[in-house]
Amino acid sequence: MSADEVLGVENVDAGYGETTILRDVSLSVEAGEIVSMVGRNGAGKTTTLRTINGILSPDSGRVTHRGDDISNLDPAATAKRGVSLVPEERQIFPELTVRENLQLAAHGGAEDTDSMSVDEAIGQFSNLGERTDNHGSSLSGGEQQMLAIARALVAGADVLLLDEPTEGLAPQIVDDVVDIVRDLNDRGITVLLVEQNVHVCLELADRNYIIDQGTVVWEGSSERLRNEQEILDRYLGVTV
Ligand SMILES: Nc1ncnc2c1ncn2[C@@H]1O[C@H](COP(=O)(O)OP(=O)(O)OP(=O)(O)O)[C@@H](O)[C@H]1O
Ligand SMILES: [Mg+2]
Repeated sequence: MSADEVLGVENVDAGYGETTILRDVSLSVEAGEIVSMVGRNGAGKTTTLRTINGILSPDSGRVTHRGDDISNLDPAATAKRGVSLVPEERQIFPELTVRENLQLAAHGGAEDTDSMSVDEAIGQFSNLGERTDNHGSSLSGGEQQMLAIARALVAGADVLLLDEPTEGLAPQIVDDVVDIVRDLNDRGITVLLVEQNVHVCLELADRNYIIDQGTVVWEGSSERLRNEQEILDRYLGVTV
């Protein structure tokens, strides 16, 4: 492990009940990086994030946060350490307003990390500012995604685990999410980004892992990945 490692996944096997999904998955995220995990539908991306935040525990191998073994911590305990999952389904409370959703996140948040105040988070996300009193249920997909990320920041994220933040969003809104993630990273927040959209990864990530059928099959910088046409085609079915 390097001194700057925030998150380490070491030779992890994990899955659901008797079904093994992840096989010997290893990855590492250093402080201040944006690292992506990209792969097709069903490749094991969400399963990887669930194993990191403690919804699942590894059957073998281990997960570390800042050098400590967190393999057997539950989601509440990893959240307390600032390992913050922004799930695919976003899980906004529809009956609560934007402000109430954020206030709720401020309780039960991380203990030792810097957290954003509710007002600071609202300021950071310009489109939420106009909607602080709107109910979660009235937000667009893009606004829900912004709120889900804002909530993680208010709770005090040391590392943000983003599960397909651009899924289902219009291209213009995808650009807004990309800008937000870049801004947050410029402010020092470390990001592990899971995506099916390799273009988003190439735009944002310092390094990328490609996952296919539960196994990491390629690792490298965005600069290198851009030139790996054969790899992109084989594992992601895209031409860039
Ligand atoms: N709760 C579950 N119980 C059993 N199998 C599951 C469960 N959730 C996911 N799987 C299986 O695990 C495999 C990996 O799923 P996972 O959700 O990690 O993929 P993913 O890469 O996140 O895909 P997507 O891009 O569609 O979100 C799939 O074969 C899926 O069917
Ligand atoms: Mg998924």
